[in-house]
Amino acid sequence: MKEMCYNEAVDFYPLKGSVFLLSGKTILIGVTGGIAAYKVPNLVSMLVKQHADVHVILTKGGEQFIPPLPFEALTGNRVLTDTFERTQPPEIHHIALAKKADLLLIAPASADIIGKLANGIADDMLTSTVLPCRCPILFSPAMNDRMYANPIVQDNMAKLRHYGFIQIDAAVGHLACGDDGKGKMPEPAELYQYIERELACEKDMAGMKLLVTAGATQEAIDPVRYITNHSSGKMGYAIAKAAMLRGAEVTLVTGQTAIAPPPFVKVVPIVSARDMFEAVTAAAPEQDIIVKAAAVADYTPETVADQKIKKKDGDMSIPLKRTDDILAWLGKNRIPGQFLCGFSMETENMLENSRAKLARKGIDLIAANNLRVEGAGFKGDTNVLTLISADEEIELPIMSKEKAAMQLLDQILKMKK
Ligand code: CTP
Repeated sequence: MKEMCYNEAVDFYPLKGSVFLLSGKTILIGVTGGIAAYKVPNLVSMLVKQHADVHVILTKGGEQFIPPLPFEALTGNRVLTDTFERTQPPEIHHIALAKKADLLLIAPASADIIGKLANGIADDMLTSTVLPCRCPILFSPAMNDRMYANPIVQDNMAKLRHYGFIQIDAAVGHLACGDDGKGKMPEPAELYQYIERELACEKDMAGMKLLVTAGATQEAIDPVRYITNHSSGKMGYAIAKAAMLRGAEVTLVTGQTAIAPPPFVKVVPIVSARDMFEAVTAAAPEQDIIVKAAAVADYTPETVADQKIKKKDGDMSIPLKRTDDILAWLGKNRIPGQFLCGFSMETENMLENSRAKLARKGIDLIAANNLRVEGAGFKGDTNVLTLISADEEIELPIMSKEKAAMQLLDQILKMKK
């Protein structure tokens, strides 16, 4: 299992020049006094596995909840606690660290640290490292729900946001004091996603809006049965994640899948081809790029039975009618400058059929894949795509769906210029 995660990371990134997602990045983690401090070594471990250089700063309060040793063992770096510590050769640690940081996260961030920073106070190692930082600064408030709701704390958080700090909203749940409410630090995996979003990719899609469809549609026959296909949604979800990491504002219109949608994207769940048509055409006028990776039913039952259809002697057949072709509709109704990309799933004559779809649907690019080719298609974690436009055909080798998504976006951006 571990091996798989490792390989995913390896595969996701080579095209951006480095093997691990956070390779070469210096990340500072400030840990203040809160029970959630005990979860932070997990986060640090995730960052180290992606080859980040992690430095932990513990406040006096933080040290009450977790000692420096776990962090030192995980990072290989000395945990910093004291601004005035003298070292050989002499170095002004807080300035040196602030200068080399690519990101600073305070987690958990106590009411105390939030209040100090909101007022520009720098009276310990963490606060005096934050003030000279010019990198993104994130903070994850964690405290009792009454403290969290206190208007002074709320004002201080608003002030930090005003100065460009990124707030990771506290979660609602059971708190250490026994109360239930808003004030929990989100789990390390969620904090990791915030860091990944900031640092993992160059933001070459910032300011762009991208809509991607994913998964299979379901066409109801009666309240119990439906017609569908084998689409897993993996390709569309990988495109949504890649575009999000590259800074785009992403809408994911998705049929039911067994996988979790990527974070930081707007998810619009749909069931049928009709639902997808309505969701896509409603959002289309705002989009710079639309990628239709979903496997949409071409036919749907003429009528949906109100009650379960009971079996009878002999065979039966279900009359089907055509669904709307969403991509063809987009091709006819596109707004100026909008880029349209479709997928084409074939089992024979892939190039010929896909070229015909490109022309028939009036779109810019089609990503063709042949279900008969090993490593291509619906279920697996890899794909083998040929990117077909009016002027070019680019055959990509077998690669992870994450990497294929990155390459597809590279091609879209190249053509959009
Ligand atoms: N598509 C769509 N609306 C439909 C059917 C397909 O928008 N009702 C889109 C798919 O999302 C995909 C592209 O059209 O991006 C091609 O889908 P595909 O199933 O490969 O081709 P079809 O157009 O359905 O043609 P055929 O069934 O003949 O292969």
